[in-house]
Amino acid sequence: MNPDDFASMDSLDFVNPYLYRYKKRNFLVKDKMRPKDLDELQHFEIQPTDIFLVTYPKSGTQWMQQILVKIMDAADPDWVEDANNRVRIPWLEERAVDDPYRERPAPRIFGSHLPPDMLPHGVKDKQIKIVYVWRNPKDVLVSLYHFAHSWVLLEQPQSFDEFFQQFLDGDVYMGSWFDQVGEYCAVRDQLNIHFVQYESMLKDLRGEVVKLCAFLEKDLTDEAIDNVVKMSTFKNMKTDPKANYKDFSETNRYKKETMRKGMAGDWKNHFTVAQNERFDRVFKEKMSDFPLTCIWEVKQ
Ligand code: A3P
Repeated sequence: MNPDDFASMDSLDFVNPYLYRYKKRNFLVKDKMRPKDLDELQHFEIQPTDIFLVTYPKSGTQWMQQILVKIMDAADPDWVEDANNRVRIPWLEERAVDDPYRERPAPRIFGSHLPPDMLPHGVKDKQIKIVYVWRNPKDVLVSLYHFAHSWVLLEQPQSFDEFFQQFLDGDVYMGSWFDQVGEYCAVRDQLNIHFVQYESMLKDLRGEVVKLCAFLEKDLTDEAIDNVVKMSTFKNMKTDPKANYKDFSETNRYKKETMRKGMAGDWKNHFTVAQNERFDRVFKEKMSDFPLTCIWEVKQ
């Protein structure tokens, strides 16, 4: 690390040795983004054709990366590139590996976990398309718990119960699920945003792909849509090296596979009755005016 990095670390508001808090969100200490870089992102030049994929972590980002890539590949042969999905849909607010600014064919698609008030101003001003994927928070908690054992940039939880409380308190990577999802719902009329529910994709992937194509204004044949669906199943993505982040496991950034279970209701295998009651109380309190309905389980 150079001396500037140490100086900038001094002023960070640490949540733990792996996360610092800025504007109510928790960012990676080991990534290169610092508060001033996050502020600068607001002035990042947005092109009218840009598309944003926004999620709270572990809500189906990687899944939607695959769906978007397959839709765009089918819609526009000039868009096709021989690179993995993470490179093709790079992360706006991380600098650890991929370069979101690299030259690439339009439309540029960016991934982001930022809240609405930290996105580049151009996202709202130019009314660019945002695909927002959200998932029931009990399964998000479980998925994030396992991910924290995998991703070397996160602190390993001491116990499930301790992590459970950190999630409810928003002391986890990117802060509170309740804040992020609530804030996107609150501003949805001001943005050009398409909400996709993870569990709805589990129930009817084709139906969600069709709705997404309409939002993206991509007119795909039935056969092309069938292919997007086929390429985006859990089973297919698990063995697709462009989709499954295998390069991260191979380079020891991830200790475990990211394609873990891909189901709705795994929280039932993790929560005690008391934890579930605690969760429901917090959910009711924090999400009293939540306009959407969570799907807590999908039988498969
Ligand atoms: P689990 O850990 O519950 O299995 P993200 O990409 O936002 O980090 O989300 C990761 C979660 O999405 C993981 O959940 C992963 O298994 C799941 N996922 C990824 N691709 C999927 C697919 N094609 N179908 C269902 N779930 C998928």
